[in-house]
Amino acid sequence: MNILHVCADPQPMEDAASKQIAAAFFSSIITQNENAKITNVDLTQEVPAPYTTEEFRNFWYPVLIDGYVPTKEEETASVYAREQADLVKEADILVLTMPMWNYSMPAMMKSWIDHVLAPGLLYDMTDDGNAPKHKVKKLVLLVSSHEIFTEADPRDGLTPAVENSFEDIGIADVSVIWADGQNPKTHVDFESRKAIALEAAEEVAEEICEDFT
Ligand SMILES: Cc1cc2nc3c(=O)[nH]c(=O)nc-3n(C[C@H](O)[C@H](O)[C@H](O)COP(=O)(O)O)c2cc1C
Repeated sequence: MNILHVCADPQPMEDAASKQIAAAFFSSIITQNENAKITNVDLTQEVPAPYTTEEFRNFWYPVLIDGYVPTKEEETASVYAREQADLVKEADILVLTMPMWNYSMPAMMKSWIDHVLAPGLLYDMTDDGNAPKHKVKKLVLLVSSHEIFTEADPRDGLTPAVENSFEDIGIADVSVIWADGQNPKTHVDFESRKAIALEAAEEVAEEICEDFT
């Protein structure tokens, strides 16, 4: 079982609810499956560069313009995207850890997704729709926020965006574990809210270990 873990939380573990959920999740995975291979990408240490014209041309012109052959410069501009997509291709499970920022995901996570979800990389665009070029079966989102969010909350610009983007490339099995209400000044129950999320992380890890033996 190969898991790719991409984290976009700059806070140290002791202050980062999303990282604590990730720690509970991976601790449970490792306890149950000693063969689990976990690859970590810390976006706060290796921040993705902005998407360039050359990268756009490399991945999108071949699907927009018949017979377009990318230049060497355009290929070179796409090295990061290829490296990261290769990590995704090795994974059975993709785990994305992040806080909510401005009702959405941190820019570094958005940028990473923009780089890897390119035609020709993780999917091919065909007349019958997108044909996946990966083997990821499960997406796990580990999220934290100050405010409290209800099911299908219209303020949530994070989980629907990530879920829709990965559904486009054939990953429809998604678990979201969300510690909301993490502002101790406004939510006295922030610790119990986090405890529920930690427990949920262990449960999802157990389900995954049963499904991916
Ligand atoms: C730049 C920034 C924007 C934020 N925007 C939101 C927001 O829109 N909604 C919200 O509930 N919390 C927001 N927060 C609060 C974080 O989501 C909250 O502190 C979260 O618990 C941090 O995650 P962590 O404990 O995993 O580091 C924001 C925090 C920062 C730094």
